[in-house]
Amino acid sequence: MNSPATVLARPHAAERHPLPGTQPDDATRKEPGMSLLDIKNLSVRFGDAHAVPVVDGLDLSVNEGEVLAIVGESGSGKSVTMMALMGLVEAPGIVTADRLCFDGTDMLRLKGRQRRHIVGKDLAMIFQDPMTALNPSFTVGYQIEEVLHQHLGLRGRAARQRALELLERVEIPGAASRLNAYPHQLSGGMSQRVAIAMAIAAEPKLLIADEPTTALDVTIQAQIMDLLLDLQRDHNMGLVLITHDLAVVAETANRVCVMYAGEAVELGEVPRLFDAPTHPYTEALLKAIPEHSQGARRLATLPGIVPGRYDRPQGCLLSPRCPYATDHCRAQRPSLDPHPFGAVRCFYPLNLPEVA
Ligand SMILES: Nc1ncnc2c1ncn2[C@@H]1O[C@H](COP(=O)(O)OP(=O)(O)OP(=O)(O)O)[C@@H](O)[C@H]1O
Ligand SMILES: [Mg+2]
Repeated sequence: MNSPATVLARPHAAERHPLPGTQPDDATRKEPGMSLLDIKNLSVRFGDAHAVPVVDGLDLSVNEGEVLAIVGESGSGKSVTMMALMGLVEAPGIVTADRLCFDGTDMLRLKGRQRRHIVGKDLAMIFQDPMTALNPSFTVGYQIEEVLHQHLGLRGRAARQRALELLERVEIPGAASRLNAYPHQLSGGMSQRVAIAMAIAAEPKLLIADEPTTALDVTIQAQIMDLLLDLQRDHNMGLVLITHDLAVVAETANRVCVMYAGEAVELGEVPRLFDAPTHPYTEALLKAIPEHSQGARRLATLPGIVPGRYDRPQGCLLSPRCPYATDHCRAQRPSLDPHPFGAVRCFYPLNLPEVA
């Protein structure tokens, strides 16, 4: 996998001023009714085409201005899904999809330089560790100005002024003096604010936040989440929020995708999914929310662990851990089936009205 910092790496001059015919138009296929992010049947394998997928047949969509949370235990494929979208899965990783469209552009068909016209501009990402986005060798101001130059063509005083406004927008105290600071002179929370400023510099349509607060002090976590949601609302951005903190999801997300061992096991809207989960795994996650869960880093889980490459059960992937599992569950793999309130991958879904 590339370093996440590659997303924000300075492009070659020829890439900043693309040659005719190198724009991503040839991969554009926006259709009426298509969501801002439209993923169909995404799979990611490491090794060869026969390796067990770490993301398996995933469908996902995000509309403009929508907050989608992706939850699930460690190793369930949340980050790899987003890395695949950003083009950051490298050999021996194999990404396949029927559709991997962002804003009508097929991200699978993009070449590196075409991708860099979109990633960091209309599609931006922030990571758990802000230091992955910041280059220790350059000042904060320089790095923000680079994004502004690369994606908006701003230079000199205009770029400086905009960088200052961005630092003020992400509520960095003494913003003017911070422009000349190096990343090591900032606290973790301040660094994440700078990373957020860089991510929103070109006003992205979709921001992906992969556990943006887990590396931070508990007191700072809520402030950073508040800031992210303010920005999301101000700019009507789509937001994909990957988190272990279901309390945050309940407060912030419109919809939730629950992942388990590379598969989506439940899709649903907030608050219904919290009131009436339909998958036993979602139910277990919700039961594990501590009473004072603000800042909880890891969900308490069902007994056992997510199956890996060599211990995948034949039937439902949750069956060895599921309190409701039957012989049928242990023998057959359920599909993700729509229901009136979302979708669920379970032979015996919970909290659904009986179908006559
Ligand atoms: N470069 C790689 N090579 C081989 N396997 C990988 C690679 N990157 C990720 N994986 C595997 O893919 C699976 C999904 O990983 P991923 O990082 O997406 O999990 P996650 O849901 O983001 O977990 P966490 O909550 O810990 O961040 C894991 O089993 C991981 O070991
Ligand atoms: Mg992850």
